[in-house]
Amino acid sequence: MKSKFFDYKLLAVVCMSFLMTTMVSCSKGKNTDNSKIPVSGQQAAELTAPPKVPKPVGNRGATKLIVNMEIIEKEGELDNGVKYVFWTYGGSVPGSFIRTRVGDVVEFHLKNHPDNKLPHNIDLHAVTGQGGGASSSFVAPGHEVVFSFKVINQGLYVYHCATAPVGMHIANGMYGLILVEPEGGLPPVDKEYYIMQGDFYTKGENGQTGLQPFDMKKAIDEDADYVVFNGKVGALTGDNSITAKVGETVRLFVGNGGPNLVSSFHVIGEIFDKVHIEGGDLINKDVQTTLIPAGGSAIVEFKVEVPGTFIIVDHSIFRTFNKGSLGMLKVTGDENKEIYSGKQTEGIYLPEGATIQEIPASGTTETTSKTYSLQEKITLGKQIYDKTCMACHQTSGEGMPNAFPPLANSDYFKTDPNKAINAVIHGLSGEVTVNGKKYNSVMPKQALTDEEVANVLTYVTNSWGNGKQEITPAMVKSKR
Ligand code: CU
Repeated sequence: MKSKFFDYKLLAVVCMSFLMTTMVSCSKGKNTDNSKIPVSGQQAAELTAPPKVPKPVGNRGATKLIVNMEIIEKEGELDNGVKYVFWTYGGSVPGSFIRTRVGDVVEFHLKNHPDNKLPHNIDLHAVTGQGGGASSSFVAPGHEVVFSFKVINQGLYVYHCATAPVGMHIANGMYGLILVEPEGGLPPVDKEYYIMQGDFYTKGENGQTGLQPFDMKKAIDEDADYVVFNGKVGALTGDNSITAKVGETVRLFVGNGGPNLVSSFHVIGEIFDKVHIEGGDLINKDVQTTLIPAGGSAIVEFKVEVPGTFIIVDHSIFRTFNKGSLGMLKVTGDENKEIYSGKQTEGIYLPEGATIQEIPASGTTETTSKTYSLQEKITLGKQIYDKTCMACHQTSGEGMPNAFPPLANSDYFKTDPNKAINAVIHGLSGEVTVNGKKYNSVMPKQALTDEEVANVLTYVTNSWGNGKQEITPAMVKSKR
């Protein structure tokens, strides 16, 4: 009886110690193992500007990966006619995409171009070490620093400048993504793209043209003038749209540089089949909108089933339609009417009380005293068009069949521009005939200044085969 009891205790001790050993080794997990992955050979890292990404790592073993990253301060465009001095990693905002695999040792060469005015550094969230590399990488203009690190956690990581004032360096575009693939690589997909959101703070209000300096007060107040994908309003629209074919699988590496705002990342008309939440190992499925923190990321994947233009947005939606966070994924291929029928029928629905809506005015209808050239008016007008008119009348003024009349080659106002002025400032409802086709919809009255109306109509009358007429603020005023 006694010996039996002893055996039981011994068994318990053996079991406990086995359990504890297992728990300890599990809690250390693969990070410990990854730090021991041997490295063989070396190669230069392929670096790409957005929306492109480097080739997948595939089956290659861990290696010494040499990253040559050049910091370039340069003037670029934040929006049409809006200039901004960006501070960049590799010449683009976001900076060059870096693609590694777990176990790689990255030898990082950070070069600060001699023409630059400021020192910079880099904090990579993929680094295990003080400052994420920042403390080893502070580099003055005309200098190069080298440091190295082993990537021991897989995932999609943000990198950014961490030189004081940190917020200002990030706000000027100093961020990008570094991907650490698992051993054997991520599962193959047909298309991969690099998208990164950022918020910008300018002395002038949104749309004010000319060179716009950074505004520290607005940045501290988190009052962004622009929220954009890939460093510019329109970086992912029109000819810059990303593309796929029906039946293909798409993977988006999405980052958020901030400096302040969190992104509610969404693709209109698509459901993310998989999301690597916050860029890590945890996969969520069937997601509509994924939250991407400032200084964070997500990998989203989906198959495209039907053709169309899928709008990429921050679903904090005023940012999208008023501050720039709008991109496009254009999918070509055969329709699948079962998955999406398109419009099947349409009739007139006009309940009692339907009236012209008014978009509230933000300011006065006074015109500024500054005189602009015709070309400047067209540029300013295009900005207004893109924000106010494009959703209905479409990018090239082609309109939408049965809904919104075309503005391109339009006979509606070619002969009498006052009809267009009236439509903009008073709104329009009821049947109109344009180029022989009837339209019956409601256009809201637009609360634009005389000058803004003149500019947007000058843009329209100088585009898409409409001739070359200039609409003046005085002409608009006479129709108020
Ligand atoms: Cu910097």
